Amino acid sequence: MFYGIILEKCIWLLFMSVVNTNQWQALLKHHGAVAKHTLVELFAVNPQRFNDFSLQAAGLLFDYSKQRVTQETIDLLCDLAESVGLKQAIQDLFSGALVNHTEQRAALHTQLRHPDPDKTEVKQVLSAMRKFVDRVNTSSYTDVIVLGIGGSDLGPRLVCEALAPYQVSKLRLHFVANVDGDTLSPLLRSLDPKHTLCIINSKTFTTIETLANANAIKQWLLAALDANTITEHLIAVTASPEAAVKFGVRNENIFAFWDWVGGRYSVWSAVGLPIALSIGMDNFMRLLDGAHTMDQHFKTADFAHNMPVLMALIGIWNINFNHYPTLAIKPYADGLQLLPSYLQQLEMESNGKSAANHGGNVTYNTAPVIWGGVGCNGQHAYMQMLHQGTQIVPVDFIVAKASINGPTELHNLLVASCLGQSQALMLGHSSAQEYKNCPGDRPSTTLMCDKITPEIIGSLIALYEHKVFVQGIVWQIQSFDQWGVQLGKELIKDVLNLIQTQQLQNVDSSTAGLLRYFLLQK
Ligand code: F6P
Repeated sequence: MFYGIILEKCIWLLFMSVVNTNQWQALLKHHGAVAKHTLVELFAVNPQRFNDFSLQAAGLLFDYSKQRVTQETIDLLCDLAESVGLKQAIQDLFSGALVNHTEQRAALHTQLRHPDPDKTEVKQVLSAMRKFVDRVNTSSYTDVIVLGIGGSDLGPRLVCEALAPYQVSKLRLHFVANVDGDTLSPLLRSLDPKHTLCIINSKTFTTIETLANANAIKQWLLAALDANTITEHLIAVTASPEAAVKFGVRNENIFAFWDWVGGRYSVWSAVGLPIALSIGMDNFMRLLDGAHTMDQHFKTADFAHNMPVLMALIGIWNINFNHYPTLAIKPYADGLQLLPSYLQQLEMESNGKSAANHGGNVTYNTAPVIWGGVGCNGQHAYMQMLHQGTQIVPVDFIVAKASINGPTELHNLLVASCLGQSQALMLGHSSAQEYKNCPGDRPSTTLMCDKITPEIIGSLIALYEHKVFVQGIVWQIQSFDQWGVQLGKELIKDVLNLIQTQQLQNVDSSTAGLLRYFLLQK
């Protein structure tokens, strides 16, 4: 009886796994046929390849003609997406269904950027943000420290940097995420507490790094101001208002967001307050607009002409069929230097999972290792490995047609560098001397926009968000939780306790050895 149930479960799991669908099997077969051809050959047989394998939406041009795909590949990948119920999954996402099954939550970040959100609380917070931005900009505050980590840091930090040329306020923003006294101490020495605001971005208001920094700043404020005055300087953006009040933030200084907004999807909420302070509320609304335009495209375009869906499926093709386990992100704009880190969290925290929705573990790779860096700098560093190394690394190139303020000649050089790299990766270079040989045939995607605007940044981030969602559906994993990170959060507390008690008897020998060495140095 017992073995019968186990056998039944195994057969069921086997049947449920995406790798056992006809569509996955068809792609495996098809892969053999495509792998015989180089990218150069694919271009030679189809001079229309750019037209056939590129599309435009929400201000972005998406060129995937340098990916190792044919029309049949795309058709089969779209069939795969159909077979795993992607259409229904997209509807569920937008309608507020509990798509985060392990925490029984919706993931309604698309509501935050909807011009007419169903949720009235979204409108209320946006209008509170507008009032706050006006108030701060006419106050005597000169500096804002922004505390937060992960999704409570990377989004506002990335967007503030990307849209620095749109800055309208004189406020200086200082982002602090890590718990590094060598960052915080000199920063605080350089600031005047009377003229400094501190925004604490924390969904849970329990994150140890953020609270440690917040406590240090509270002490710094207390050393200069009285206890009542310091509460004017503390702002919290959180889904746990009670915890913020307990910490000492006034009720009227708390901006809410909700459990249906995941940390890494929270830049569109009041977590984006630093963005609004920097570029103004109107530009913040433009950011939301850009993301909404991408949402509409994602919701309505058929799979074969749907940018996030195609991007996701090509990723799956590269990871699971071509066996390229990493993805390099190369923005040709200094303002986007944090994009690889932002996408690291978005992709790796969302889809770095092994547990399959139907039980057991998946038998295929999921999230790629995301890495990268800005434009030309990488060409004089890691691009060597991409041209001649033993591993094939697909690249996402991102470039604007024009700079916001800079001279055209410089920008032409930037664009030429970007296009030159993707071309070189594809074409390679043959030489009689082995060491000069570049094999080429290395795939990439290029995203191009007119110039970097708030709308474009919104659309670009939303594109990757939806890409990650689609991949999670095909891989049959939970994209909206992060239990692995939770483990790390718990372990910090245990190790801190070991440091305080110095009771190292029941600890593994490596951790005990390191702790003994650490304690000796003190
Ligand atoms: O890094 C894990 C994580 O849970 C992220 O998802 C989140 O953005 C970050 O920690 C910060 O959490 P909080 O906003 O609750 O401080």
